[in-house]
Amino acid sequence: MSSNRKKPEELRSYRWYGVNDLRSFGHRSRTAQMGYHSSDYMGKPVIAVVNTWSEINSCHTHFKQRVEEVKRGIWQAGGFPVEMPVMTLAEPFQKPTTMLYRNFLAMETEELLKSYPFDGCVLMGGCDKTTPGLLMGAISMDLPAIYLPAGPMLRGNWNGRTLGSGSDTWKYWAELRAGKITEDEWKGIESGIARSPGHCMTMGTASTMTSATESLGLTLPGFSSIPAADSRHAQYASLTGQRIVEMVWTDQKPSDILTAKSFDNAVTTVLAMSGSTNAIVHLVAVARRAGIDLTTARFDELARVTPVLGNIRPAGQYLMEDFYYAGGLRALLVELGELIDGTQMTVNGKTLGENIAGAEIFNDDVIRKRGNPLVERDGLAVLTGNLAPDGAVIKPAAMEQHLLKHRGPAVVFKDYKDMAARIDDEALDVTADSVIVLQHAGPVGAPGMPEWGQLPIPQKLLKEGVRDMVRISDARMSGTSYGACVLHVAPESFVGGPLALVKDGDIIELDVAARRLHVDVSDAELAKRRQAWTPPKRPFERGFGVMHQLHVTQANKGCDFDFLEEKLAASPEANRDEPEIH
Ligand code: FES
Repeated sequence: MSSNRKKPEELRSYRWYGVNDLRSFGHRSRTAQMGYHSSDYMGKPVIAVVNTWSEINSCHTHFKQRVEEVKRGIWQAGGFPVEMPVMTLAEPFQKPTTMLYRNFLAMETEELLKSYPFDGCVLMGGCDKTTPGLLMGAISMDLPAIYLPAGPMLRGNWNGRTLGSGSDTWKYWAELRAGKITEDEWKGIESGIARSPGHCMTMGTASTMTSATESLGLTLPGFSSIPAADSRHAQYASLTGQRIVEMVWTDQKPSDILTAKSFDNAVTTVLAMSGSTNAIVHLVAVARRAGIDLTTARFDELARVTPVLGNIRPAGQYLMEDFYYAGGLRALLVELGELIDGTQMTVNGKTLGENIAGAEIFNDDVIRKRGNPLVERDGLAVLTGNLAPDGAVIKPAAMEQHLLKHRGPAVVFKDYKDMAARIDDEALDVTADSVIVLQHAGPVGAPGMPEWGQLPIPQKLLKEGVRDMVRISDARMSGTSYGACVLHVAPESFVGGPLALVKDGDIIELDVAARRLHVDVSDAELAKRRQAWTPPKRPFERGFGVMHQLHVTQANKGCDFDFLEEKLAASPEANRDEPEIH
């Protein structure tokens, strides 16, 4: 970070507004057309408030109000706010999956920041893929940037019971299918499970990624834990607006904050909260935009030494609202002690260590002490073997423990439609020891690597009381899900990964302690099957999908587009070249 404060004529926006030529006349006269006097903006940092609000994003319903609070802070600090609506990624509604469009949001964010007269930006996100999408774009542009997390929604409530997003949907759906609850009860759950603004309040991708972003140093300290409906969330929105203006004057950019160690802090946070497996894909992609080669192996290394302290569903018992009242992320980071590198810089100009100093745990059942963790270690585990040469992921903390080491015959579905058509067939040759395999669910094949990885338990087994079994796919899984689901198998089956070669009855071996995923088929037989395998037709013939299927990388590389990762990040200055203003 430069120790010198910028002068107004050094602002990037000065090229649009400050110079005296024909084009700047146009910029000033058109700003006047919007009702602003030159004293509103001249010589001030112009701040993009990048807003993922939309009428179809249920997690961001409060962003219409929050953007006003952010603007209030920007005005107070002497900046000029400009709201920039961007594509929303609304997890429950967008098909086939928001993941297909994460890179779209990243590209849109980068291009907007590049092509308009912005000196810095506030990134407003929260619902799952919005966080990584916004971060990836802003990091590639490398203007001063600060992240505003949407905050978790309040606990769900039904008939006196607390409900958690996703987790309790899966749980009660299984109960409904098993005939244990009625249709009327299911409808009651529907109306009570999401009852306030904010993102999912379990340790889904949203809570995972907003917490990780705070540990990365890109969010005001303590902000990610505050429930969306809490008035302190609005106060922090205003403070975020104030802070970005100062960040512009001191030229504090993502590249001044992000290091390999700050990513270790983010990964450790995810592990200590038993966060979503999706964080692996997203943090790898975000890191690569910053020119940092975060590997899945690093997740596994850190998982071996990081205890799970956040007692939050689906691995634990409580919800994010409880986590906030128990002290929130700052308290959890203090408890992690030497596992967190407190020397790393953050957006408020202080180190992470300075920001968390003095934070306390107020309920040590919600945020466990190191001496009494929820799980000793292995919040996530990365597996390899002849079935996943480039890795696969499992969440040992959120599965039935007797399945950690398991051998069983494969029951193979060639794609999602095939699975949906046959999974509940009484004639399906499946037992609790079987290993269910879903092919063609990866980044290219599905397309977009949907959250199909929590494959359903066949109904006939549900009725027998089976609630977990080993399931393998190249898909992702919602962080709110649970079960012995092996995910992110790379390379994916659609591009010829070994998962494509598995047949019914092949014996599959899972050994989480040994980090092994193996199919008991000889190399010669696998080679023979490969010769007989033909690549399937790619799903898109037009539009953004064509770009996606040609350029998306595999899960272990973060599923970014190959032309957007390191190359630009390696020379962020080149990317910040001013556009020609004609
Ligand atoms: Fe938006 Fe879960 S649906 S975070």
